[in-house]
Amino acid sequence: MERSLTLELVRVTEAAALASARWMGTGKKDEADGAATQAMRSEFENIPMDGVVVIGEGEMDEAPMLYIGEKLGQGIAPFVDVAVDPLEGTNIVANGTWNAISVIAIADRGNLLHAPDMYMEKIAVGPKAVGKVDIDAPIRDNLKAVALANGKDMSDLVACVLDRDRHSRIIEEIRAAGARIKLIPDGDVAAAINTAFPDTGVDILFGSGGAPEGVLAAVALKCLGGEIQGKLLPQSDEELQRCLKMGLTNPHQVLHMDQLVKGDDAIFAATGVTDGELLRGVRFQGMRATTHSVVMRAKTGTIRFIEGNHRLEKKPRLVL
Ligand code: FBP
Repeated sequence: MERSLTLELVRVTEAAALASARWMGTGKKDEADGAATQAMRSEFENIPMDGVVVIGEGEMDEAPMLYIGEKLGQGIAPFVDVAVDPLEGTNIVANGTWNAISVIAIADRGNLLHAPDMYMEKIAVGPKAVGKVDIDAPIRDNLKAVALANGKDMSDLVACVLDRDRHSRIIEEIRAAGARIKLIPDGDVAAAINTAFPDTGVDILFGSGGAPEGVLAAVALKCLGGEIQGKLLPQSDEELQRCLKMGLTNPHQVLHMDQLVKGDDAIFAATGVTDGELLRGVRFQGMRATTHSVVMRAKTGTIRFIEGNHRLEKKPRLVL
């Protein structure tokens, strides 16, 4: 892949973030998502690549843009798989709370798991704890391993969990083990990434969330040297059939980093829509706006934070 693509992709996440941030606090999650999707789709036209959406806004008959199988970019090499979430955290923007981001991940064609739209159980950790956790092990054992790896007492450790009834057993077990918990209303991609940045105060992510989000987080953690393990959780016969169609003979098998993102290269870009531990949200002042993004590449391990200052009157193509 061309390394210049890293910076090109930030333009795309910036555009989506700028468009959706206008909907902050309006209570309108679909409109926020629609604005992000439209802006992202239109920016992709300028990107020098031949991309195919493998994780996007849905199947062709249910999503007008960024649907699975849609071709993106200028149609020239490199040939890549594209995973997008124009707005990760639609409710977050609607409510004006924390950690909504606009996200893109790309890898060489065929290298991203075509994760179906279903739940995935996940465990994610930063670089120090790579190889020390096991999604099938008891919660307490994983917490002990991360405490040791991160050089912390159990009582100092923070486990991040989506605030859902289905996670009550996980929450009880974390409490019983004596670790601290950060319950989040939405946004487990940002939470997984946070495990790789000690300053965010998050040591480990537990719980189930979207499988597509699991692949996006895997690309980010591959770039950051962290780890995520996932298990698909089909909840109907139809979902089970989808797993089998993907070639997963055992749909409940543990998916490791190399199955989620194959190969040694991948690029991940995200722009903050609302404030989070890692990225600031979009700030508007009249016709000016600032964005805060991170872009990283697995092959080189380079991580760049980019602050964008935008003159909105000079960006007529942007859907705001
Ligand atoms: P959306 O952006 O589609 O609203 O997803 C937000 C999110 O919280 C993800 O981060 C997470 O993986 C998933 O939803 C969890 O799903 P559910 O809300 O059904 O528990």
